[in-house]
Amino acid sequence: MPNIVIVGAQWGDEGKGKIIDFLTETADVVVRAQGGNNAGHTVIVKGEKHVLHLIPSGILWPKKMCVIGNGVVMDPASLIAEIDGLRSRGTTISPENLLLSDRAHLALPTHRALDCAREAKLGAKKIGTTGRGIGPAYADKAARSNLRLADLLVPTTFAEKLQAKVEETNETLAAAGLERLEFSSLRDELLAAGELLAPHVTDTAVYLHRQLKAGKSLLFEGAQGTHLDVDFGTYPFVTSSSTIAGGACTGAGVGPQAIDRVIGVCKAYTTRVGSGPFPTEDETLSEKLHALGREFGATTGRPRGCGWLDLVLLRYSVIVSGIDELAVTNLDGLDDFATIPVCVAYEIDGQRVDTPPVRIEDWERITPVFEHWAGWEQDITAVRRWSELPEKAAGYLARLSRELGVPVTMAGVGPDRAQTLVKEL
Ligand code: IMP
Repeated sequence: MPNIVIVGAQWGDEGKGKIIDFLTETADVVVRAQGGNNAGHTVIVKGEKHVLHLIPSGILWPKKMCVIGNGVVMDPASLIAEIDGLRSRGTTISPENLLLSDRAHLALPTHRALDCAREAKLGAKKIGTTGRGIGPAYADKAARSNLRLADLLVPTTFAEKLQAKVEETNETLAAAGLERLEFSSLRDELLAAGELLAPHVTDTAVYLHRQLKAGKSLLFEGAQGTHLDVDFGTYPFVTSSSTIAGGACTGAGVGPQAIDRVIGVCKAYTTRVGSGPFPTEDETLSEKLHALGREFGATTGRPRGCGWLDLVLLRYSVIVSGIDELAVTNLDGLDDFATIPVCVAYEIDGQRVDTPPVRIEDWERITPVFEHWAGWEQDITAVRRWSELPEKAAGYLARLSRELGVPVTMAGVGPDRAQTLVKEL
């Protein structure tokens, strides 16, 4: 099995969890390399729904090692809650199937408080974050003033460093008229979490290196999506990590030559949560999908905005992540349409562009250029083989593949593990 990176090709929520789960069967180690508990990967196995935030979805498979790499920001309490939740539903979790990088930075209650305070201050201009402290945690990491998982394992020095951080945060909170955080209860809660997590903590870069040497295959589980990337996304309406394929290398400590394939995941249409530009957003499509109980955020429960497929976004994702092949999920979400608008370019001040603009002010002046592709107008949720797809549904995927110059090799026709189709050669 090659070493594969899975990346989201849109604004997150592309259904990566399901594709990762599908590919896990043939992988030995599943790795998270960026983001934090802002992610929400939904996997449905035999009708049972699992939502994972920090732990790779490989945990649902027996005998798979799951690794949370150095590039992840880790909220210890959230991780413990996730471990407890999985255990209560019968999943065994031990250092035999879950390892945590000692270099992973902590997303602390101080970061959550600052995230919420900053969003409140931004008012109508807010980013629409998940409120999990992700931005402030990565900001502290880059400012060289954060605490890491390794620090949590040494109570005396951890307490000193945490106290300084709480005091610094309290100054900011007090200036904004917000409630101060209480150091001693935070310290006790975090140290208790540290004790539970300690057996899982190791230098995961060394572990992964040894696995590669032994010929084991790695599957990197991307979180969020390319257009939420801190460099390549719709800045400032982005998350704070490298969500593109290259993030797998920096976030896990593996060299780029270890990556054999990059699989991009996109929906057959587009969705976005939080604030920020969304040129193809369409109210009728949103209402239709929400009425079916679809497109509500796995982490926050917020309804996602829905819009038509946007090839400008996908074209750029292919470029910046080096996508080799695409998995297209939620094809069944378009079952009812006779024709389907697809955005092939943007117009900005009368100029046609086929890659995304950089400045947020330009994003606000976009008029999407649509083509209308044939719909299939039939329920495809019972289809189990690519060759059984209605001609027009297969045609939609074939045209998408031609437009982007990469093969579409997988398609999702529903949320269950069994509803993932692989293109027959
Ligand atoms: P943050 O990552 O919580 O700072 O949020 C920044 C932006 O990224 C907001 O628009 C969030 O809605 C969005 N975001 C963060 N994580 C996810 C995700 O897993 N799926 C979709 N959007 C996300």
